[in-house]
Parts: sequence; structure tokens; C-alpha cells
Amino acid sequence: MLPADSQLSELYYIFCILTTVIFTMDKGSVLTHILKSNDMSTLLGGELPVSVISNNKYISPLTAEAQAADRNGEEDPPSLDCAIHTALSGEIKSVILVGPEGSGKTTALVKLVMGWAKGEHLQKFSYVFHFRFRELNSLDGALSLETLLLHHHSHAPPESVPLLLQKPEDVLFVFDDLDRYKHSLDPSVHTLCSDPTQAASVPCLVASLLHGSLMKGATFVVATRPTSGLEFLSGTRVEVLGFLKPQREAYFNGFFTDPAVAKKALTHMERTLGFYDVCASPKFCWTVCSVYKSLMDAGAKLPETLSQLCVDILVHLIQTLSLNNASSRDLVLALGKLASHCFLDQHSSCTKEEMDSFGFQQFLNSVGVFLHVEGDQSDVFSFRSQLMQEFLLAASFFLDKSPSEGVEKMLEKHKGCVKFLDFFMSGLSEPLQRRPLENVLGELNSDRIVDFKSWFKSSSEKTLKECYKERQHRCFHLLHQAQSESLVKEIITPSARVGISYGDLSLQDCVALSYVVTCLGEMEQLNLYGTKNLTEEQAERLIPAMSISQKIILSGSSVSTGAVHHLASALSRGLTKELDLSNSRLGDEKFKILCAGLRDCKLHTLKLLMCRLTEGICEDLAPVLTSATSQLSVLDMRSNQIGDQGFTTMCKALHSPHCKLQELMLQNCELTAASMETLSAAVCSGQSQLRKVGLTHNVIGDRGVETLCKSLQHPLCKLQSLNFFDSELTGACCPHLMEALMSEHCSLTELDLSVNDLGQEGALLLCQALSRPGCPMEKLGLKRCKLTEAVFKELSSVLRSGTSQLKSLIVGINAVGDQGVKHLWDAVAHPNCLLEELDVEMTGLTDACVEDMCAAIRASKTLKSLELRNNTLTDVSVPALVEVMQDSPNMKEMNLKYNEFSEEVFDMLDECDTIRY
Ligand SMILES: *[C@@H]1O[C@H](CO)[C@@H](O)[C@H](O)[C@H]1NC(C)=O
Ligand SMILES: *[C@@H]1O[C@H](CO)[C@@H](O)[C@H](O)[C@H]1NC(C)=O
Ligand SMILES: *[C@@H]1O[C@H](CO)[C@@H](O)[C@H](O)[C@H]1NC(C)=O
Repeated sequence: MLPADSQLSELYYIFCILTTVIFTMDKGSVLTHILKSNDMSTLLGGELPVSVISNNKYISPLTAEAQAADRNGEEDPPSLDCAIHTALSGEIKSVILVGPEGSGKTTALVKLVMGWAKGEHLQKFSYVFHFRFRELNSLDGALSLETLLLHHHSHAPPESVPLLLQKPEDVLFVFDDLDRYKHSLDPSVHTLCSDPTQAASVPCLVASLLHGSLMKGATFVVATRPTSGLEFLSGTRVEVLGFLKPQREAYFNGFFTDPAVAKKALTHMERTLGFYDVCASPKFCWTVCSVYKSLMDAGAKLPETLSQLCVDILVHLIQTLSLNNASSRDLVLALGKLASHCFLDQHSSCTKEEMDSFGFQQFLNSVGVFLHVEGDQSDVFSFRSQLMQEFLLAASFFLDKSPSEGVEKMLEKHKGCVKFLDFFMSGLSEPLQRRPLENVLGELNSDRIVDFKSWFKSSSEKTLKECYKERQHRCFHLLHQAQSESLVKEIITPSARVGISYGDLSLQDCVALSYVVTCLGEMEQLNLYGTKNLTEEQAERLIPAMSISQKIILSGSSVSTGAVHHLASALSRGLTKELDLSNSRLGDEKFKILCAGLRDCKLHTLKLLMCRLTEGICEDLAPVLTSATSQLSVLDMRSNQIGDQGFTTMCKALHSPHCKLQELMLQNCELTAASMETLSAAVCSGQSQLRKVGLTHNVIGDRGVETLCKSLQHPLCKLQSLNFFDSELTGACCPHLMEALMSEHCSLTELDLSVNDLGQEGALLLCQALSRPGCPMEKLGLKRCKLTEAVFKELSSVLRSGTSQLKSLIVGINAVGDQGVKHLWDAVAHPNCLLEELDVEMTGLTDACVEDMCAAIRASKTLKSLELRNNTLTDVSVPALVEVMQDSPNMKEMNLKYNEFSEEVFDMLDECDTIRY
């Protein structure tokens, strides 16, 4: 709004025109200033921002939000540029870009400023000041903001600065490299100022600006690597991620003019390095492209590992310096010392005096390719690439001919500052890996290499015995870097392979693990238990390992759809005999994908407990079961919604001569009597190999049992084990069971009828059948069946008959008391009784039974295990129980939990390790 006073308004109008003219001129000088910036282009320093932008090769990095969007499959994930513009178009006065080394922050800022200067965007700002914190470090003494802007931005016309200072809201400050700033931003350590003409120290001016006391209303964009200085800054945070695969692809296409070469280079990088975070860095992409290009031009092989890449980079850099061998060694040794110094020093840089002490005097003209020189006085040096800083530390460690402080000490010292130091040491410890470097530097110190190898061997031996997953993965990473099959076989001994657990892997871990397993040629067990989210990429990397593992454990894991495709293809070509997907919440859709791989595989056992499957999968499962090459003999489908319809479909497969199913676990699968018809037909068909069926927790009912009993008498039925635990049975099914058990064709050796209301009458019929000479029954479960003393008496007589094969009898939770169980003690003591396991949990036993029980244990030649939970034995019985267990070498276990013991007898019970209480 114009002021009411017309004179004033005229003045204002003139002012506006004036500033516009001045500032238009300023924009040109800002642009010239940027374009003239004189940093050198190096292999390690990234492509120069100006060259990227002027050559139209700029690709905006992505923000962390973009990564999430990408995961959710959204197209066009938001770029860093969008994020900055969105933030600045609102009321926001402060935007903070946080991202790791080389993630593209600096280039994005230069692009921002150039775009403004060219009039492309952000025209609401009359002026943009662009600072680098590291340049502010060297400004000493007191000066005013006005002087700072005039001196620092010498391209800003002197007459415009005072005008700008009066209109802060028209000004945008862009600050880069906060992490390199030596001073504190903590407002409490400065006396903040507000007058732009008042002199103060530079740290005070900067703090006053960023905390809004100076130039209140101005807008700020600050970029930094993660640093503690951030805690003092408020504003919109934008997390800079860098390049994901699509941006890398665009970058490679821009770098290599030939699309075929670009594709070859990108594919190679994604395969060998794509799993390292550092690939998200545009700067790193530049280094990789440059090295690949020079290798390709020379017809050389591209590097397979990170260590090989760094060897190639160092060789390339040394060759470009054209030093003699001895000088090259000295340079690498000096760089190694500097690397260590910078890691251990918080500011990660070094003065000229320190440089001299490391032996850099003769190299000051060569170091630019490795180091960045900061400040006007050229006296602060820092590494252009942290990755190479680590590699130089490793290389110089092995190059050094002096006695070493020891590998462990050296690693310990740099712990927390380095990421890949041990990777590189492992890589360099192998002759094949270090050869190119030795060709230009001469031989490395063999004593130190021997030291490293013995440290690696002893530390891995220890690591593989323990179960710290991260340390085990680290060991695999080091093996991957060394690229030596014989080393893998030496370190991962057969005994080490058993205990290894791999749950929750990073992509990087998958690559290393697959490498190690592939070197071993075969793996007994690949344990991926509890993997929170096995992604498509991870599974793809694991295919080689999966396909040569005898057993794959993915229980308790969550497996993405893409991963299931790869799992299926690993199985279908592989050696895997057992796959455990229990509790993986797989679901029908993913299971159907898996089935494609199951038709032609070596799988013998498939565990699908609680996989959220429904009857819909049975149509897909049937062809798997009947495939001519199917080996599947054990199928665990417990706790899925299979239902009668689904089960009927599966039963049809049992008629096929190709179906090799022997064990089928269908507990809690929503089955009823209706599906017993088809099961019966299948088991009598003469083709079915089915031996064992678990039907626990289904509403089978008496009618269902009746149906199945008919097939048990069929001469072609091979069923040996049936489990009807909690299947809603009553005494009414017992006549049918009796009839079946009396049949000479019945081959049942295991029958569990627990938790059904059989009652005395029903149970007595069973006893009658069990006493048939030749009855093969070995294991009988009658827990909580409302049994009475009369039944126990009959069971006792069966056990003593001399024809019974019963080895396991489970009759707990039947309230028969001491008197009832006494019949069983008599049986146990009898020489004809073969019982090995007796369960009389919660039968109402008291101390009064102990004498008979102990006598029975002593007399028995077969009894191994006695279940006595939830009875009312007390302290007085303990000496006798302990004594009998100690005297009876056959007894493997006595469970006395939930009896009525006081703490006073715990010590005594502890004396006997076969007693549980
Ligand atoms: C010294 O460098 C040359 C190439 O400059 C190389 O051919 C030679 O093998 C090197 N000698 C040693 C001992 O490394
Ligand atoms: C698992 O990862 C995929 C792909 O990265 C993602 O789409 C999915 O949401 C993740 N699931 C969970 C439970 O984290
Ligand atoms: C046995 O006793 C424990 C502890 O009192 C109890 O939690 C458990 O439910 C009992 N078992 C049975 C089958 O009742």
C-alpha cells in the first residue's frame, strides 16, 4: 500500500525503481561471482556445482520423505528443490537442509542462488547473500554486518547494502557447511546484537542473524551435515537423501554419452555397490563414473567390491600425480597420518604446521586431489572424501614399515569415527586385491598383514561362537571384501556354521551372507528367523544362499510380495529340503506365488503354521502335491482357515500316485465331520502315503470319528497316528473306535483323544480294545476325558497284560486321586509294563502316594518321564523324591511344578537336575 501522502508516495515510487535497477545489476554480478568460483574439479570432490548447472546436468537430490514415497510406490517423489521452494513460498523464515557428505546440498544451494540471479525464481527477494560457514571461520576481529556484507560480497554494490539492511524481509541469506563452522551458535554464549552498523565479532554477528535479533524478518536457508550445532537452530528441517536408483540412472546417462555404456556402468555399480548408503551421494556417483570411465577406456575390469573400487581410485590418482614410487609411498603415508589425525580431531581438519609434521612439505602441490584447502590463507586442510580418508588410513597402515601398535588397538582407536576401515584392511590383506596398489607403491608390510590375518581369524572364531548378529555380519562383510574362497572356508568352519543366526538383515548383509554361503557351496541351515521385513531386493540378493541351503527358516518373519517371488525361484532351482514360514502372516496371495516354485523342488517339509491362509490356497496346493517331482512329505498347516471345502480339495490330491505326503498337521483349521468323508476315501485309496494326521481343535465330533474309524479297518489304510485333542467327542464315538482298534488291519500306534468328554463307559470300551493281543498302540492320550478309578484299573490291567505295546500314557486332569493312580503305580512296577512316559498331571495326588510311586520307579526298567504337575505333594515328600530320582539312572525327567512346596526345599530339589519344580 502506498502512503497517503502523495509526495511521500512519489518518493517511494522512485525508491522502488532505484532499488530494482540496482538489484538487477547486482544479480548479474552475483552470477559472475558464482561462475568465477575457482575450486578445482577433482575425482574425489564431486563435479563442480557451476559446471553441473551450466551444462544442464543438474538432477535434484531427493529428500527423506521422497524415500518413503518411493517405498510406497508413488511416482514423482518430492525433490529437494521442491521442498525448499515449498518451504520458502509460505511464511517460513528458516529452512535447514540436513544431509550426509556429498548428498548434493551445496549444488542445490548454488542452483537456488543462480536461479534467483537469472530471474527464474524467488523474485520476491531483492537480494540473496550466499555464505559458506567454513569461510567465516577465518574472519577475525570485530566488524559490523554492513562491513561483512560489503567485504565478503564485494560484488554487491556498496550503495545498495544500506538500503537492504533496512528491508530485512526482502533478503534471503543462504549459508552452506554449518558443520564446518568452528564457533558456537548457542545464543547464550553471545551478546546478540541488532544494529547492522554496530561492530561485533563474526561469531556474534552470525548468531545474531540466525537467532533473529539482527535483520529480523530476513529469510534463511542453512545447509549442513548432521552436526551438534543443529540443536540451536529452529526452522523447517529438510532431510536430504541424495540419489535413489532413478536419479542415479539419469546421472549415469548424463555422464556417459553412449546409452549402452551408461547402462553397463550403472548395472555394474548397482550390483556391486548399490547396497551401500554412499551410493545415494551424487558426489560418489561422480567418482564412480569417472573411475569406471577410465577403466573402461583402458579395457580393464571394473571393481567388484568397495575395497577394489578404492584401490582403483588410489591407483588412478597416484598415476595422475606422476610421482616416483618412493614419493608415492611417502605421500600415502603422510595422508594416512593426516587421515588418522582428522578422524580423531573433532574438527576434522589440520593446519599447515601439522601438515609439515606429517611429511607433506614436498607434496603441497599434489595434495589438492585428496584434500580440500579452506580459508583464504590456505592453511586448513580436510579430506574431500571420507571414504578415501578411511581407505588411505588402511593403506598407509599396511604400507608403514615401522613396528605396529597392533591391529586391534588401531581399530579400537578409530572406532566410532570410521565405517569401513576394517573392510578395507580385510580387502588389502589379500594379495589379489592389493596387487594393483603394490604395482604403484611397492610391496606392503607383510608383518602387518600377517598381524591382521591372525587378528581376523581369532576375532571371527570368537564372534561365530557367540550370537551377536551384528558382529557375525561384520565378519561376513570382511570376508566379502577379501574375496577369497579359501579364506571363507578357513574362517567359517563346519562347527561355526550351526549356531549362526541371520534375522533382520540389511541389503548389505544379504550380499555378504550370500557371498559367504556361495563360497561354502552348501549350508545346512539358513536361519532368517524374525526378519521384520524381507524386501524384494534383499531376497534377490539372497537367492544364491537360499538355493543351496538345506533348510530355510523364515518363521516369525514378514516377507514382502517381491521377496516371495525370489524365494519361489530359489526353491525351484535349489537344494532346499525344509522351509519354515510359521507365523509369517503370509496370506493367500503370497502363498500362491510361492506355489509356483514348489512344483519342481526338493522340499520335503513345509511349515505354514499361522500363515493366514484360507481355503482359496488349496486349489494351488493340490498341483504342488501331485506334481511328478514333488518330494513333499510333511505339511504343517496348523491354525489356518482351511475349512472343509479346502481340505476336500487337498484330499483329492492324496489319490494321486505322485503325492508323497506322510504327515499332515491340520490343527485348528476349521474342519468338521464333513471333511472326514473325503479324508477316509483318500486314505483307503491305496495311493495315499499318509501316516499321521493332526486334527486338534477342530469340531470333528463323534460322527467324524465314526467315518474315519471305517477307513482304519481298511486293509489299504496306512494311518498310524491320529490326534483328536479337543475335537468335541463324547463317549458315543468309543464303540466305533473300539471296533476299529479291534480290527487286524488297524495300524494305529498313536491316538490322542484328550480334552473330550469320553467318560467312564466310553473309556472302558477303549480299554477292552487295547487289551486285544496284537494291538499296536504305543502312545495314548486321554487327558481330561472324565476318567474314573475304574478306567485306571482297566488301564493298569492292559499295561500288565504282557501284550500291550503302550510306551506313553497321558491321563492327567482326571480326578481319580491317590487311590485311582495307585493302579498305575502297580502297573509301572510290573515287569510286563513297557511304559516310558506317564502323565498324571492334576489327578489329585498327595504325599500318601509317594511310597507306591517310588517303589514303582525303582522297579520299572523302562520309565523315563513322569509328569506330576498341579498335584498337592508337600515338603515331606521331597527327600524321597530326590532320592529315587538320584537312584534311577533311567529317569530323565520328573516334573513337580505347581505342587505345594515351600522355599525351604528348593535347595534340596536343586540337587537333582532331572527334577523340575
Ligand atoms: C615403480 O613404479 C613403476 C612405474 O612407475 C613400476 O613399473 C614399478 O613396478 C614400481 N616398482 C615397485 C618396486 O613398485
Ligand atoms: C516392507 O518393505 C516394503 C518395501 O520396502 C514396504 O512397501 C512395506 O511397507 C514394508 N512393510 C513393513 C511392515 O514395514
Ligand atoms: C496348574 O497350576 C497353575 C498354577 O496354579 C495354573 O496356572 C494352571 O492353570 C494349572 N493347570 C491346570 C491344567 O489347571
